[in-house]
Amino acid sequence: EKQGYDHFMLKEIHEQPESLKRLLEDNLKDGKIDLTASGLAENWLDNYDKIHIVACGTAYHSGALAKYLLEDKLRIPVEVEVASEYRYRNPIVNDRTLMIVVSQSGETADTLAALRLARSKGASVLALTNSRDSSIARESDMLIYLKAGPEIAVASTKAYTNMVAAFYILLIDGMRQRDDISEELVVNYTSDLIKLPEMIRKLSQQSKEQIEIIANKYAQKENIFFIGRNTDYTLALEGALKLKEISYIHAEAYPAGELKHGTLALVEENVPVVALGSRADIFAKLFSNLKEVKARGAETLLITEENQKFEADSVDYLIELPVLNKDFAGLLAIIPLQLLAYYTALNCGEDIDQPRNLAKSVTVE
Ligand code: M6R
Repeated sequence: EKQGYDHFMLKEIHEQPESLKRLLEDNLKDGKIDLTASGLAENWLDNYDKIHIVACGTAYHSGALAKYLLEDKLRIPVEVEVASEYRYRNPIVNDRTLMIVVSQSGETADTLAALRLARSKGASVLALTNSRDSSIARESDMLIYLKAGPEIAVASTKAYTNMVAAFYILLIDGMRQRDDISEELVVNYTSDLIKLPEMIRKLSQQSKEQIEIIANKYAQKENIFFIGRNTDYTLALEGALKLKEISYIHAEAYPAGELKHGTLALVEENVPVVALGSRADIFAKLFSNLKEVKARGAETLLITEENQKFEADSVDYLIELPVLNKDFAGLLAIIPLQLLAYYTALNCGEDIDQPRNLAKSVTVE
């Protein structure tokens, strides 16, 4: 079943080019985004005043990323929240709210409860899920089926990639509806989206050796920090979750600019800091935070575009990403982050596919 891989997680990481292609094929027609099958109206943006994105864990991280992009391009207010919080407060929802729930399994209890709550207040619900027969799929008004294929490892990898890609699809479809966004940008973003599977395939092969060296070091560490800005911050969150979930090493993610408001106190000699710098537009800001941690002795890993210029003496390890538009480049960074978590856990000797205390599908709260 593992098709020659030692673990389902590694198999699923390597399946990503194919599983992503499946999602794209489903939602593209003649080279253009076509969301007819989802049930979304042609000009759905007109129907809503705001978007709520609600999910748990990795699925939540895909929503956190989407908030940055949807608000930036579509100029519609987006709130993103973990389902266990959303369901026990009194969110402001009405019939002009688009509720987007994201769930690999489609059975996560808190996410389902949040969906029901928003629906009872009049929201239209769009589900992004990997299970068509799930409770979440059944109880939603609209659906983007993620088509990642069965995900067995508890740590979610290929489902996350398709969640983010589904948000990219939604983003481009929304951009088409905006008068202030050129058709050219819509065309460019669509062609960048189509390039992603091949870029991911190459990246998972190229980065392996370098990652194994870093993972070997990380396996000895007690704390690892991840920093980033904007969408890269959400990648940092996901990278840290993946690492802690399967290696049991304490990993935390912070918005890079927030470090000096407290956490910098923990950065001392040889503490690893992973800096996500896929966004060319704010790279300089991220890099100045990287220099701050380096000055305190941190061991730095920078993940950035291959043509990015920076002062090499602040960077101990470097992983390069192919060049892509700033909004989509982030998804490329997930590949080294997933591999880093995997090989670190492998060095730690942990049960990678079945980490302690965790279940694949959390159907009780
Ligand atoms: O099935 P769901 O996407 O609703 O699951 C949500 C989380 O339980 C899940 O993403 C969890 O955080 C993963 N184990 C992370 O790798």
